[in-house]
Amino acid sequence: MSQLLQFAVFGHPIAHSQSPRIHQAFAQQLGIALDYRAIDAAPDVFAQTVRHFFQHEQGRGANVTLPHKAAAFALADERTQAATRAGTANVLTRLADGRLSAHNTDGDALVRDLTERHDLDLRGHDALLLGAGGAARAVAWSLCEAGVQTLTIVNRSPEAADALADAIGQPARVHTRYWEDLASIGSFDLIVNATSAGTLGQALSLPMSLAGSRAACYDLAYGKSAFAFLAWARAAGARYAYDGLGMLVEQAADAFELWHGRRPDTEPVYQSLLLQVA
Ligand code: ATR
Repeated sequence: MSQLLQFAVFGHPIAHSQSPRIHQAFAQQLGIALDYRAIDAAPDVFAQTVRHFFQHEQGRGANVTLPHKAAAFALADERTQAATRAGTANVLTRLADGRLSAHNTDGDALVRDLTERHDLDLRGHDALLLGAGGAARAVAWSLCEAGVQTLTIVNRSPEAADALADAIGQPARVHTRYWEDLASIGSFDLIVNATSAGTLGQALSLPMSLAGSRAACYDLAYGKSAFAFLAWARAAGARYAYDGLGMLVEQAADAFELWHGRRPDTEPVYQSLLLQVA
């Protein structure tokens, strides 16, 4: 085994993951030598593959992507508040005593991409969150902390939306509506698509009335998975339509900083990915 610090991203499938490229670019920027691999692990062998990486392959840290974020949370020995709220983890870190710590950087990454890269001030915005699964749970608290005025959560299965709103526990500000009522609930300043419909190749049926004229629409997915939602956003007259590529780079930077104690400059890496990921 190489003497380099060992890092990896676990997913299934994982061949097209940008994470190795992003982490190597950060490492090069800061003069850090590391090994970062993409490891394909089917769900039934995920936990054992992760344990082997950390116990026998000198693994220091791992990113975790679909479909393993809930399993990563479950197998950890300790969990940050962000991971606990989401019930999922996208970062696993080996602590000095060998135990594994789970963290979720997706919410902070979304807010940083919206507010710093895209220059949006979320304070006072009425936000609509589509979806109430793992991805939605990871970003909901962060949107509240970023100062949105209201957060309306709408999910195909209403129980999951209610459970998320209850968990946040700010009834005056965070509430749910039925998917069937989307056409009659007015317009929003920020619409975040946190459903997995695009990734699954399924169409979302959304009324044009949702997007106010100054609306920003954001898909947590990027590339092809975000095409349909962003096409809807443009057709609906939204002022801005963004995919989650910036969030991907920001969540990687958070993990990088956690592991290496230094924060990389995400912009050049984001710009080079923009040219590659369509
Ligand atoms: P992820 O980790 O990507 O969030 P997940 O936890 O399985 O994956 O959650 C998927 C989310 O996308 C859920 O909110 C799901 O709605 P349900 O709870 O009703 O299943 C939503 N979703 C998936 N496909 C959808 C579709 N075609 N239309 C609307 N919502 C969809």
